Amino acid sequence: MSNAATTTAETAAPAIAPPMGMLAELTHRCPLQCPYCSNPVELERRSDELDTATWQRVLREAAELGVLQVHLSGGEPAARRDLVELVRTCAEVGLYSNLITAGVNITPEKLRELYDAGLDHVQLSFQGATAEVTEQVSNLPGAHARKRAFAGEVRALGLPLTVNAVIHRANIHQIDDFVELALALDARRLEIAHAQYYGWALVNRAALMPRRGQVMEAIDRVEAARQRLQGRLTIDAVVPDYYARLPKPCMNGWGRQSLNITPSGRGLPCHAAETIPGLEFWNVREHSVAEIWQQSPAFNAFRGTDFLPDACQSCERREIDWGGCRCQALMMTGDATQMDPVCEMSPYHDDIQQLAIIDAERDEPFRYRRFERRRPDRVRQPASET
Ligand code: FES
Repeated sequence: MSNAATTTAETAAPAIAPPMGMLAELTHRCPLQCPYCSNPVELERRSDELDTATWQRVLREAAELGVLQVHLSGGEPAARRDLVELVRTCAEVGLYSNLITAGVNITPEKLRELYDAGLDHVQLSFQGATAEVTEQVSNLPGAHARKRAFAGEVRALGLPLTVNAVIHRANIHQIDDFVELALALDARRLEIAHAQYYGWALVNRAALMPRRGQVMEAIDRVEAARQRLQGRLTIDAVVPDYYARLPKPCMNGWGRQSLNITPSGRGLPCHAAETIPGLEFWNVREHSVAEIWQQSPAFNAFRGTDFLPDACQSCERREIDWGGCRCQALMMTGDATQMDPVCEMSPYHDDIQQLAIIDAERDEPFRYRRFERRRPDRVRQPASET
């Protein structure tokens, strides 16, 4: 165990390229209860969260290591009373700060304070392109109207805005509406991100999975909008991988470009890494960010491609997709070193496609994300959305 305050200049030589980005999950508390959330089902409690001084040290250490961008996330980062202080620290140490927010609990005054502290960018989630769908998915009445107002307040300050829409069965029919919404809100960028099935989203897979035909139509609509709006709106798309032929380059490769810090301070190579048994995660309470990035067993477990099976070693895409997703490989094969089952070369490829087809036909209620261990509420989706 090292002195947590040790600077990177005093630690090991950086043989490993530094990360570009860090996801700072400041808290798992959130006013929304989205069933597609990728946070773990066992959410971290407020009493376990890092204090302000520790987060400030983590931000300083990240900058010293070479991190360029910090994504202040959660849960809802604005649930932390010290958010303004943390944004100010980002500005002081030269980190580009991106606030990933639901936008429902930040007053205009608080937003102004964040702006004055040096906030660089806001990424605002919309669960639907209409009030009905946003409120159904987030389980928060009034959320849509508040989000729209918040977007206006962001733009009035001149802050760049990205609209993020996680796509699933309940809103996949609204692709064109999301595009119109982003334009109406004067967003610079729209992220159309099909749900990735980890954490709460995995629990809700049978309630969220769209049909293949819906996915193909959504992809076509995104492409058409991209062509139509070149130069006006940038549209990023994250494709749904259960129906795909090739795996996604999850995290752009394990331990290559980014790291996550959980609310209690554990350094993770990806948001679902804790589902992989046997990995040892170091905590910022005991280790510097540089030590975690360069030396921690979890980060070194799947760096590069050496761990991949023989079939991947000769694949020309091995340094494009980096073997896909370790967590998905574990989920489907029981072995995190296997090729991602999404890859058409995987013996499990047909199984994952079949899973998607079966789940898309199931009529399951949402299990809403919340802190509880007892039987969760179950609410049916509106018939028109299924
Ligand atoms: Fe863990 Fe993809 S989510 S490697």
